[in-house]
Amino acid sequence: MATNLNKHREFEYCREDFERVVKIIYRVSGISLSERKEDMVYSRLARRLRKHGIQRFGEYLDFVVQDTDEQKAFVNALTTNLTHFFREEHHFDHLEDVFFPKLFSTNHRRIRIWSAGCSTGEEPYTLSMVWHNLKNKPKGIDFKILATDLDTNVLDTGRAGIYSDEKLAPISSEYTKWFSRDTQCRSNQKIVSDVLKKDVHFKQLNLMQDWPMKGPFQLIICRNVLIYFDRHTQEKLIARYSEMLEVGGYLILGHSESLGKHKLNYENLGKTIFRKIH
Ligand SMILES: C[S@@+](CC[C@H](N)C(=O)[O-])C[C@H]1O[C@@H](n2cnc3c(N)ncnc32)[C@H](O)[C@@H]1O
Repeated sequence: MATNLNKHREFEYCREDFERVVKIIYRVSGISLSERKEDMVYSRLARRLRKHGIQRFGEYLDFVVQDTDEQKAFVNALTTNLTHFFREEHHFDHLEDVFFPKLFSTNHRRIRIWSAGCSTGEEPYTLSMVWHNLKNKPKGIDFKILATDLDTNVLDTGRAGIYSDEKLAPISSEYTKWFSRDTQCRSNQKIVSDVLKKDVHFKQLNLMQDWPMKGPFQLIICRNVLIYFDRHTQEKLIARYSEMLEVGGYLILGHSESLGKHKLNYENLGKTIFRKIH
């Protein structure tokens, strides 16, 4: 018999429904949901049932497996997109003080960075701001940031580049020049300058599938993404990142993430910054 998880809920939701959600999201995105996420799944998907006038989770999940648009909305609802400008600021200090000067000293004329799991764009735009504020930068370097995510809603936000004053508040004064209020903005919003927008190329990409780009990248920054995957998936991804990096290139992970058994390929520079050594 189905285990009822209803607790006076608006929609019918049982343990089997939760287990189906866990299977579908794992198959589509690699995201591994623990049992503790039962309530989170209910609250995030309840909006979808309400939108479609569906009363039971079982019926909604039948719809998800048949309808590609709804599958997209289902995935978007279940991804966790928390991010902010200059998150883990020490990473950007290291890029400014060590990583970019090293690329200049080795005469790199083309710099390619991949923000994998970029969410709403704060991470790639922070990289672009750091790049533009660098002093003594050689002229004429071809610089691009590829910003990818699975969630199509966050990519739209990134492309629009419009952020609330609250989101912009932690940005220090040397960087505020990159944001202004224009006609698209509400009174409490600002938009990213076209100079930064030109650097950042947003694309939908599912990390679990084939990657169309060839690389090599000088930097792959994939922070606070691996934590949503199981160990096996994390290790596979770390090996694939290594293939996309040039020797000497950097992989930066989030503060609670690690390389697992692939660490031999990388020198650990501390604070979850790794350099590919062979
Ligand atoms: C918590 S955000 C991290 C944002 C940013 N990197 C940071 O550290 O602030 C995690 C992002 O990973 C994305 N994600 C999850 N599974 C993914 C997958 N299979 N392929 C691509 N992106 C994925 C989510 O949509 C989400 O936007």
